[in-house]
Amino acid sequence: MSNTVDSNLKAIRYDRGNLDILDQLQLPTHTEYIPIKNTEDGWDAIKQMKVRGAPAIAIVGCLSMAVEIYHMEFQSHQEIADYVKDKLNYLVTARPTAVNMKEASDWISKMLQELTTDSDLSVHAFKELAIEAAEILFEDDVTINKDIGRHGAEHILNHCQDKDNVNILTHCNTGSLATAGYGTALGVIRALHEKNRIKHVYCTETRPYNQGARLTAYELVHENIPATLILDSMPAILMSHHDITAVVVGADRVVANGDTANKIGTIQIAIIAKHFKVPFYVACPLTTFDPSKESGKEIAIEERPHIEMTSIKGQRIAAHGIDCWNPAFDVTPAELITGGIVTEYGVFKPSEIKEKLTAKKMEKDK
Ligand code: MRU
Repeated sequence: MSNTVDSNLKAIRYDRGNLDILDQLQLPTHTEYIPIKNTEDGWDAIKQMKVRGAPAIAIVGCLSMAVEIYHMEFQSHQEIADYVKDKLNYLVTARPTAVNMKEASDWISKMLQELTTDSDLSVHAFKELAIEAAEILFEDDVTINKDIGRHGAEHILNHCQDKDNVNILTHCNTGSLATAGYGTALGVIRALHEKNRIKHVYCTETRPYNQGARLTAYELVHENIPATLILDSMPAILMSHHDITAVVVGADRVVANGDTANKIGTIQIAIIAKHFKVPFYVACPLTTFDPSKESGKEIAIEERPHIEMTSIKGQRIAAHGIDCWNPAFDVTPAELITGGIVTEYGVFKPSEIKEKLTAKKMEKDK
């Protein structure tokens, strides 16, 4: 019998004109959906990490634009194109490292600008096009994630010794809560679980926001996937004591040479995985690929407020007076991504990513 996963964990609820998001700051103790009525609400929710994860940031950002303009009247195509472009550019500023929001913003703005002179479209129909573009991002995401899951699961099974006892280590949260559903790296784990191949999953706590302890652990328990939470300092002892089949993580930006930005702590897991000869995979959609940057050195790393490190739910845990450094992401060099980069189009070596994904990007933009 196969394990069919039908997750009802939804980070985003949307009907044309209405958008609610699950407030992830309150998980796992409280489940509260909050309304996002406009792009200011969208920007705040992204900045405060009420919604987070590269794909979910882009979807909520674009849908916040869609609900805002749904309730507005415009006079011309150009007025709509300019308004949408301004609002999307503003949303890009909420969090700089994940490229998905910028990618979505450029895609929608370019498409609208090209159609401003289309006299067959009424102003109302032109506004609907902008709304539909945001809706497409939301609707397509689960299918993309299922393709990522399928490719990643097949690749891991084809390259491992014991196909019936797969043990995976993952970091941060890349699941239904970080996407429209199913997830990227967690989608690969879901796909392996659906095939009854998972023996055990290990998820890191992921300090300071605790995406692993609060969100990934929540999703794994919810899906009945056998799993254990470990601290961020434990991947080395884990790999020395347990037979780990593969590490699978998500990504916030993959650049032309295959260097990958992901949640802080990812690079140290990749270094440890290389030491223990455990394949290290990055799972992400095409929209996370940024060919405009040659190497990871060019990626802007978001730095977050010190209070996220020094306090937990208002309780001070660090010595008063201590200085802090709180980068939210790090860059894993391509040579440490030994398993491959899992996309909706297949699994590629980091050295192939520029050629393979640039062609796919050009096809999509046509
Ligand atoms: O700071 P976050 O929670 O937005 O960081 C999320 C991650 O780093 C994820 O691994 C990445 O965005 C991929 S989510 C499918």
